[in-house]
Amino acid sequence: MKVMLVGEAAREHAIAEAVCRSRFEPKLYAAMKLRNPGIISLCKRTGGEYVTGKTTDPSFIVESAERFHVDFVFVGPEEPLFHGIADALEEAGIPCIGARRAPAELEMSKAFMRRLMWKHGIPGRLRFKAFREVEDAVAYIREYAESVALKPARQVGGKGVKVIADLQAYLSREKAHVKEQHAKIISEEHMKGYTDIEDRILIEEKVEGPEYTLQAFTDGRTVKPFPLVQDNKNAFEMDIGPETGGMGSIAGRGMLLPFITMQEYRRSTEIVKACVRAVEAETGYKYKGVVSGQMMLTAAWGPTIIEFYCRFGDPEAVNVLPILKSDMVELCQAIIDERLNKVKLEFEDIATVVKGIAPKGYPDRRDLAKGHPVVVDEEAVKRKGGRVYYASTDLQPDGTILTGGSRLVEIFAKGKSIPEAGRKAEACIPFVSLADGWGVFYRSDIGSEILLKRRIEQAELVRGVYKYRFRKGLVGKTIEWIPGRGKIVLEA
Ligand SMILES: Nc1ncnc2c1ncn2[C@@H]1O[C@H](COP(=O)(O)OP(=O)(O)OP(=O)(O)O)[C@@H](O)[C@H]1O
Ligand SMILES: [Mg+2]
Repeated sequence: MKVMLVGEAAREHAIAEAVCRSRFEPKLYAAMKLRNPGIISLCKRTGGEYVTGKTTDPSFIVESAERFHVDFVFVGPEEPLFHGIADALEEAGIPCIGARRAPAELEMSKAFMRRLMWKHGIPGRLRFKAFREVEDAVAYIREYAESVALKPARQVGGKGVKVIADLQAYLSREKAHVKEQHAKIISEEHMKGYTDIEDRILIEEKVEGPEYTLQAFTDGRTVKPFPLVQDNKNAFEMDIGPETGGMGSIAGRGMLLPFITMQEYRRSTEIVKACVRAVEAETGYKYKGVVSGQMMLTAAWGPTIIEFYCRFGDPEAVNVLPILKSDMVELCQAIIDERLNKVKLEFEDIATVVKGIAPKGYPDRRDLAKGHPVVVDEEAVKRKGGRVYYASTDLQPDGTILTGGSRLVEIFAKGKSIPEAGRKAEACIPFVSLADGWGVFYRSDIGSEILLKRRIEQAELVRGVYKYRFRKGLVGKTIEWIPGRGKIVLEA
């Protein structure tokens, strides 16, 4: 058995490790942009190989997979899927875990995803407008004073989203100015060079509430959800600072987070299932691989979709893959053969915490964060009960590991409770440093009692309101007050 992995982040390190635990004893092959030391050591240990190159180039991936004679390919990140890697592999007769280009549009185009949810009447949708011309977006902004999220219409790697509350009438003109400026920046900077979708700017109703990720495997028919995970995006403690790719994440025992109920988990799964079915109806292709809902518990709907991933989240993958009890290769084969309903997806009943460690400079000045030699005492981390997953790092020919500019490692730990797992992860932090003395940072509050308490309180507030709205038949509807016209209810 030979498996090839595409990708080079901590998420792919966790996928690689889960693949290598399989009773089929696969040889691991990898195609990466940077040389992830964790993935390389798994390739070597299992007798496989790795190549580096442009992982978004379908011919590079197909040629590598053919050269290694692999049984199937697992694609970790989204951009290769957006570039049609799955399509090219399947045409060459090589099965792929990862959506074809058309269904991957669920993540690639936030405008496509919103239209899909409206067309199919799927709960958890938000009111939105998508614009091709910046002038039209500006005209809309001038006319409607609303609290909105302004986004690039395409997934552009986690940049360019601005959420603007427009609640005070006396500030409305200034807020409109900010929105207009940002619409221009989205069109001219964030969407620059992307010609694979027509929409450019998305203006979306602003909602509030705790966020969480529901990751799942699907063969197009069955959707098998993983335990819920919450990522923490802000760079600094207590949710301040710039947004990052994710500074760390938590998952509770069983399938739930302490602030999400079983009913909300089930409803979230139903939403993801409905979208997988709708994607096939719309594109004619079965969605095969990983699908994740980046969700928010909101007063409007309860579980609500913020965006979709056609992959695991990172760091979210690192919470759930190390505790996967089922055989990863068997699961992949069940996806390929469309019999995922026949295989159990089981996890250890344990809480997990992941903490990202980043070089100073990240995320605003990646140029400063890049090129520092990494020192990791993996044995010491193990002794403290943690595990190291390599993230943005590049192994050099002389054995030095250099930072790539983003989070350099993610530390995983498990425990009877989230705070216990958090304390274990925390104890591992001193064993990761940079040899040239350049500083690193991480978030000590991730997994702490205090942050958990805050999330639980936030969820309780939102839950009270959406339950009230359910009782009143107002779920999904927006109530607005317009001077001279009184209260109006906008239908969802
Ligand atoms: N409609 C909305 N209302 C309120 N907040 C929102 C809304 N849409 C997005 N956000 C906030 O902005 C963040 C980023 O938005 P989104 O996930 O759509 O974009 P992204 O930049 O592609 O994300 P990522 O960083 O996850 O790749 C969300 O995690 C959420 O906190
Ligand atoms: Mg997001």
